[in-house]
Amino acid sequence: MTELVVSELDLTKQREVNEVAKLYVAAFRSSPISFVPDLEGFKREIGEWRKLKQTANAKILGVRTKDGKLVATSIGHKANPAVKDKFLDDLVSRLGGENHYFLREAAVDPEYRRRGLAQRLLELQIEHARKLNCGSIFGLVLHSNTPQRSQLVKNGFEHVFTKQHVVAKRGAVMPLELMCFRKHLHEEKQ
Ligand SMILES: CC(C)(COP(=O)(O)OP(=O)(O)OC[C@H]1O[C@@H](n2cnc3c(N)ncnc32)[C@H](O)[C@@H]1OP(=O)(O)O)[C@@H](O)C(=O)NCCC(=O)NCCS
Repeated sequence: MTELVVSELDLTKQREVNEVAKLYVAAFRSSPISFVPDLEGFKREIGEWRKLKQTANAKILGVRTKDGKLVATSIGHKANPAVKDKFLDDLVSRLGGENHYFLREAAVDPEYRRRGLAQRLLELQIEHARKLNCGSIFGLVLHSNTPQRSQLVKNGFEHVFTKQHVVAKRGAVMPLELMCFRKHLHEEKQ
Protein backbone atom coordinates (compact mmCIF):
# COMPACT_ATOMS: atom_id res chain seq x y z
CA MET A 1 0.00 0.00 0.00
CA THR A 2 3.04 2.29 -0.21
CA GLU A 3 2.03 5.62 -1.68
CA LEU A 4 -1.51 4.42 -2.16
CA VAL A 5 -4.27 6.15 -0.23
CA VAL A 6 -7.70 4.82 0.72
CA SER A 7 -10.51 7.36 0.88
CA GLU A 8 -14.27 7.61 0.56
CA LEU A 9 -15.60 8.36 -2.90
CA ASP A 10 -18.39 10.84 -3.50
CA LEU A 11 -20.72 9.54 -6.20
CA THR A 12 -22.74 12.76 -6.17
CA LYS A 13 -19.80 14.09 -8.19
CA GLN A 14 -20.07 13.04 -11.82
CA ARG A 15 -16.27 13.14 -12.11
CA GLU A 16 -15.97 10.39 -9.49
CA VAL A 17 -18.72 8.32 -11.15
CA ASN A 18 -16.76 8.56 -14.40
CA GLU A 19 -13.53 7.49 -12.69
CA VAL A 20 -15.18 4.44 -11.12
CA ALA A 21 -16.79 3.52 -14.47
CA LYS A 22 -13.40 3.76 -16.20
CA LEU A 23 -11.83 1.54 -13.54
CA TYR A 24 -14.64 -1.03 -13.91
CA VAL A 25 -14.10 -1.17 -17.67
CA ALA A 26 -10.37 -1.84 -17.14
CA ALA A 27 -10.98 -4.33 -14.31
CA PHE A 28 -13.68 -6.35 -16.05
CA ARG A 29 -12.04 -6.38 -19.48
CA SER A 30 -10.55 -9.79 -18.76
CA SER A 31 -13.72 -10.97 -17.05
CA PRO A 32 -15.16 -14.36 -18.00
CA ILE A 33 -18.45 -12.56 -18.77
CA SER A 34 -18.47 -11.02 -22.20
CA PHE A 35 -21.65 -9.22 -21.17
CA VAL A 36 -20.22 -6.56 -18.88
CA PRO A 37 -21.54 -3.06 -19.59
CA ASP A 38 -19.57 -0.54 -21.63
CA LEU A 39 -18.31 2.75 -20.17
CA GLU A 40 -21.66 4.53 -20.58
CA GLY A 41 -23.51 1.54 -19.13
CA PHE A 42 -21.26 1.52 -16.05
CA LYS A 43 -21.70 5.30 -15.64
CA ARG A 44 -25.47 4.87 -15.56
CA GLU A 45 -25.30 1.95 -13.13
CA ILE A 46 -22.80 3.59 -10.79
CA GLY A 47 -24.67 6.91 -10.93
CA GLU A 48 -27.68 5.04 -9.52
CA TRP A 49 -25.62 4.00 -6.50
CA ARG A 50 -25.21 7.58 -5.24
CA LYS A 51 -28.51 7.37 -3.39
CA LEU A 52 -27.27 4.36 -1.43
CA LYS A 53 -25.13 6.62 0.74
CA GLN A 54 -28.26 8.01 2.41
CA THR A 55 -30.75 5.16 2.06
CA ALA A 56 -28.51 2.27 2.99
CA ASN A 57 -25.45 3.58 4.83
CA ALA A 58 -23.20 2.76 1.90
CA LYS A 59 -19.42 2.72 2.21
CA ILE A 60 -17.97 3.74 -1.15
CA LEU A 61 -14.23 3.36 -1.07
CA GLY A 62 -11.45 4.13 -3.48
CA VAL A 63 -7.70 3.64 -3.53
CA ARG A 64 -5.66 6.28 -5.32
CA THR A 65 -2.02 6.58 -6.30
CA LYS A 66 -0.14 9.65 -5.13
CA ASP A 67 -0.93 11.18 -8.54
CA GLY A 68 -4.62 10.76 -7.83
CA LYS A 69 -5.31 7.88 -10.21
CA LEU A 70 -8.13 5.63 -8.97
CA VAL A 71 -6.81 2.04 -8.94
CA ALA A 72 -9.26 0.16 -6.73
CA THR A 73 -12.79 0.50 -5.47
CA SER A 74 -15.29 -1.27 -3.30
CA ILE A 75 -18.88 -0.49 -2.43
CA GLY A 76 -21.01 -2.07 0.24
CA HIS A 77 -24.29 -1.12 1.89
CA LYS A 78 -27.08 -2.37 4.08
CA ALA A 79 -29.45 -4.60 2.16
CA ASN A 80 -32.44 -2.96 3.78
CA PRO A 81 -35.90 -2.61 2.22
CA ALA A 82 -35.37 1.13 1.71
CA VAL A 83 -33.14 0.26 -1.22
CA LYS A 84 -36.20 -1.00 -3.16
CA ASP A 85 -34.29 -3.41 -5.36
CA LYS A 86 -36.13 -6.57 -6.42
CA PHE A 87 -32.93 -8.42 -7.23
CA LEU A 88 -31.53 -7.65 -3.79
CA ASP A 89 -34.83 -8.43 -2.05
CA ASP A 90 -34.79 -11.90 -3.58
CA LEU A 91 -31.27 -12.51 -2.26
CA VAL A 92 -32.22 -11.30 1.21
CA SER A 93 -35.30 -13.52 1.35
CA ARG A 94 -33.17 -16.52 0.39
CA LEU A 95 -30.63 -15.65 3.08
CA GLY A 96 -33.41 -15.41 5.65
CA GLY A 97 -33.50 -13.11 8.64
CA GLU A 98 -32.62 -9.49 8.31
CA ASN A 99 -29.91 -6.90 8.77
CA HIS A 100 -27.58 -8.09 6.03
CA TYR A 101 -24.81 -6.04 4.45
CA PHE A 102 -24.32 -6.39 0.68
CA LEU A 103 -20.96 -6.18 -1.07
CA ARG A 104 -21.15 -4.97 -4.64
CA GLU A 105 -18.40 -5.75 -7.14
CA ALA A 106 -14.92 -4.80 -6.02
CA ALA A 107 -12.53 -3.84 -8.78
CA VAL A 108 -8.77 -3.44 -8.88
CA ASP A 109 -6.83 -2.07 -11.85
CA PRO A 110 -5.03 -5.06 -13.46
CA GLU A 111 -1.65 -3.34 -12.91
CA TYR A 112 -2.26 -3.08 -9.17
CA ARG A 113 -3.45 -6.60 -8.41
CA ARG A 114 -1.97 -9.03 -5.89
CA ARG A 115 -0.81 -6.23 -3.60
CA GLY A 116 -3.53 -6.64 -1.01
CA LEU A 117 -5.74 -3.76 -2.19
CA ALA A 118 -8.96 -5.80 -2.43
CA GLN A 119 -8.11 -7.35 0.92
CA ARG A 120 -7.71 -3.97 2.62
CA LEU A 121 -11.00 -2.74 1.15
CA LEU A 122 -12.84 -5.90 2.20
CA GLU A 123 -11.56 -5.50 5.77
CA LEU A 124 -12.87 -1.91 5.81
CA GLN A 125 -16.25 -3.08 4.51
CA ILE A 126 -16.47 -5.75 7.20
CA GLU A 127 -15.56 -3.17 9.85
CA HIS A 128 -18.29 -0.84 8.53
CA ALA A 129 -20.88 -3.66 8.50
CA ARG A 130 -20.02 -4.43 12.13
CA LYS A 131 -20.39 -0.77 13.10
CA LEU A 132 -23.86 -0.81 11.52
CA ASN A 133 -24.58 -3.85 13.67
CA CYS A 134 -25.30 -6.06 10.67
CA GLY A 135 -25.63 -9.77 11.36
CA SER A 136 -24.06 -10.87 8.12
CA ILE A 137 -22.19 -9.65 5.07
CA PHE A 138 -22.66 -11.24 1.65
CA GLY A 139 -21.69 -10.92 -1.99
CA LEU A 140 -22.19 -12.61 -5.34
CA VAL A 141 -19.50 -14.14 -7.48
CA LEU A 142 -19.32 -16.19 -10.65
CA HIS A 143 -17.98 -19.70 -10.12
CA SER A 144 -15.29 -18.97 -12.72
CA ASN A 145 -14.02 -15.95 -10.77
CA THR A 146 -11.32 -17.75 -8.78
CA PRO A 147 -9.63 -14.60 -7.39
CA GLN A 148 -12.82 -13.25 -5.83
CA ARG A 149 -14.04 -16.67 -4.66
CA SER A 150 -10.68 -17.42 -3.02
CA GLN A 151 -10.66 -14.08 -1.28
CA LEU A 152 -14.11 -14.57 0.20
CA VAL A 153 -13.33 -18.10 1.40
CA LYS A 154 -10.03 -16.92 2.89
CA ASN A 155 -11.99 -14.32 4.88
CA GLY A 156 -14.45 -16.80 6.35
CA PHE A 157 -17.31 -16.48 3.85
CA GLU A 158 -19.33 -19.60 2.99
CA HIS A 159 -21.31 -20.50 -0.11
CA VAL A 160 -25.03 -20.41 0.76
CA PHE A 161 -26.84 -20.76 -2.58
CA THR A 162 -26.43 -20.18 -6.28
CA LYS A 163 -28.74 -17.77 -8.06
CA GLN A 164 -29.57 -18.32 -11.72
CA HIS A 165 -29.59 -14.98 -13.47
CA VAL A 166 -29.97 -13.98 -17.09
CA VAL A 167 -28.30 -10.92 -18.55
CA ALA A 168 -29.24 -9.45 -21.89
CA LYS A 169 -27.19 -7.24 -24.15
CA ARG A 170 -27.64 -6.19 -27.75
CA GLY A 171 -30.43 -8.70 -28.30
CA ALA A 172 -28.51 -11.71 -26.96
CA VAL A 173 -29.05 -13.38 -23.59
CA MET A 174 -26.63 -15.23 -21.37
CA PRO A 175 -27.46 -17.31 -18.30
CA LEU A 176 -25.19 -16.77 -15.30
CA GLU A 177 -24.74 -18.77 -12.13
CA LEU A 178 -24.07 -16.34 -9.32
CA MET A 179 -22.72 -17.90 -6.15
CA CYS A 180 -23.81 -16.14 -2.98
CA PHE A 181 -21.16 -16.14 -0.23
CA ARG A 182 -21.95 -15.00 3.30
CA LYS A 183 -20.05 -14.39 6.51
CA HIS A 184 -21.82 -14.20 9.87
CA LEU A 185 -20.65 -11.26 11.97
CA HIS A 186 -22.34 -11.64 15.33
CA GLU A 187 -20.61 -14.71 16.68
CA GLU A 188 -17.20 -13.06 16.34
CA LYS A 189 -18.15 -10.10 18.52
CA GLN A 190 -16.13 -9.72 21.69
C1 LIG B 1 -10.91 -9.94 -7.48
C2 LIG B 1 -9.99 -8.70 -7.34
C3 LIG B 1 -10.84 -7.54 -6.85
C4 LIG B 1 -8.86 -9.04 -6.33
O1 LIG B 1 -8.07 -7.86 -6.17
P1 LIG B 1 -6.55 -7.88 -5.60
O2 LIG B 1 -6.26 -6.52 -5.06
O3 LIG B 1 -5.65 -8.39 -6.65
O4 LIG B 1 -6.65 -8.93 -4.40
P2 LIG B 1 -5.64 -9.01 -3.15
O5 LIG B 1 -4.24 -8.79 -3.59
O6 LIG B 1 -6.15 -8.12 -2.07
O7 LIG B 1 -5.80 -10.52 -2.72
C5 LIG B 1 -6.67 -10.92 -1.67
C6 LIG B 1 -6.97 -12.40 -1.82
O8 LIG B 1 -7.74 -12.62 -2.99
C7 LIG B 1 -7.40 -13.89 -3.56
N1 LIG B 1 -6.82 -13.67 -4.89
C8 LIG B 1 -6.56 -12.46 -5.48
N2 LIG B 1 -6.11 -12.67 -6.74
C9 LIG B 1 -6.08 -14.00 -6.93
C10 LIG B 1 -5.73 -14.82 -8.04
N3 LIG B 1 -5.30 -14.29 -9.20
N4 LIG B 1 -5.85 -16.16 -7.91
C11 LIG B 1 -6.30 -16.72 -6.77
N5 LIG B 1 -6.64 -15.99 -5.67
C12 LIG B 1 -6.54 -14.66 -5.77
C13 LIG B 1 -6.39 -14.52 -2.62
O9 LIG B 1 -7.11 -15.25 -1.64
C14 LIG B 1 -5.75 -13.28 -1.99
O10 LIG B 1 -5.17 -13.55 -0.75
P3 LIG B 1 -3.60 -13.99 -0.72
O11 LIG B 1 -2.86 -12.86 -1.35
O12 LIG B 1 -3.33 -14.15 0.75
O13 LIG B 1 -3.49 -15.26 -1.52
C15 LIG B 1 -9.32 -8.36 -8.71
O14 LIG B 1 -8.74 -9.53 -9.25
C16 LIG B 1 -10.29 -7.79 -9.75
O15 LIG B 1 -10.49 -6.57 -9.83
N6 LIG B 1 -10.88 -8.66 -10.60
C17 LIG B 1 -11.81 -8.21 -11.66
C18 LIG B 1 -13.07 -7.65 -11.09
C19 LIG B 1 -13.83 -8.69 -10.29
O16 LIG B 1 -13.89 -9.86 -10.66
N7 LIG B 1 -14.43 -8.24 -9.18
C20 LIG B 1 -15.24 -9.08 -8.33
C21 LIG B 1 -16.56 -9.28 -8.94
S1 LIG B 1 -17.62 -10.26 -7.92
